[in-house]
Amino acid sequence: MSRKYIIANWKMNMSLSEALQWLKDVEENFPEGVDGAVCPPFVYIRDLVKEARKLKVGAQNVSWAEKGAYTGEVAAYMLKDVGADLVIIGHSERRKYFNETNQDISKKITLAVKNGLEVVLCVGETLEQRQAGKVEEVVRTQLREGLDGVPPETWEKLTIAYEPVWAIGTGVPCKPEDAIKVIEFIRAELKDIAGNKGKGIRVLYGGSIKPDNFEEFLKVGVDGGLVGGASLKADSFIQLLRLGAKYSS
Ligand code: PGA
Repeated sequence: MSRKYIIANWKMNMSLSEALQWLKDVEENFPEGVDGAVCPPFVYIRDLVKEARKLKVGAQNVSWAEKGAYTGEVAAYMLKDVGADLVIIGHSERRKYFNETNQDISKKITLAVKNGLEVVLCVGETLEQRQAGKVEEVVRTQLREGLDGVPPETWEKLTIAYEPVWAIGTGVPCKPEDAIKVIEFIRAELKDIAGNKGKGIRVLYGGSIKPDNFEEFLKVGVDGGLVGGASLKADSFIQLLRLGAKYSS
């Protein structure tokens, strides 16, 4: 797939008025030929869905349960009901702070795609795992266990984000040549698991992307970016979208 995909992950940031102003600015400057999405905290999704014309809107998490007595959770059908297009699943902050396992993640993905949502599955190693030479082992397990039981006919709804944990929010991105090695490995794994269905899946890079380093990643062949810090300002997100458009075909 040669159309790049740039996704803003706001994490637990922004007020409602900031969110709406950001959306207005980004929509007005949205370049042709690139795919863009914003994943705000749950409470802003509906407001952004009402205003968004060019950007997709999504969530940063979803429950592994279908519905019922799960205080504080949000179900996949509810996201669909309020107009969300996608959901990020398995972000390293969810794995680390909320003890999400690959088994939770596969349940979440299954419910999300069943409800017609696109899924962005995040995978990536910690610094210790990288230093121990375990990058491929870790990423393979996250992919295989995370996608276990997810019906192959829904795989067109998938995007993968390779996010080395040590590069997230640190200001120190992975070297593009190292990132693309893992991304090529992920592409090969997807093809191995799902055959041709795995072929068109976009594999993004995430971790300290900024307007002044993103082009290096696009040059080596990433399919786009999952962006935290640099997505919070409309200006810098617009610059990232423009770079994505430049490398799309
Ligand atoms: P960052 O976050 O761009 O702030 O490093 C990326 C992410 O967590 O998705």
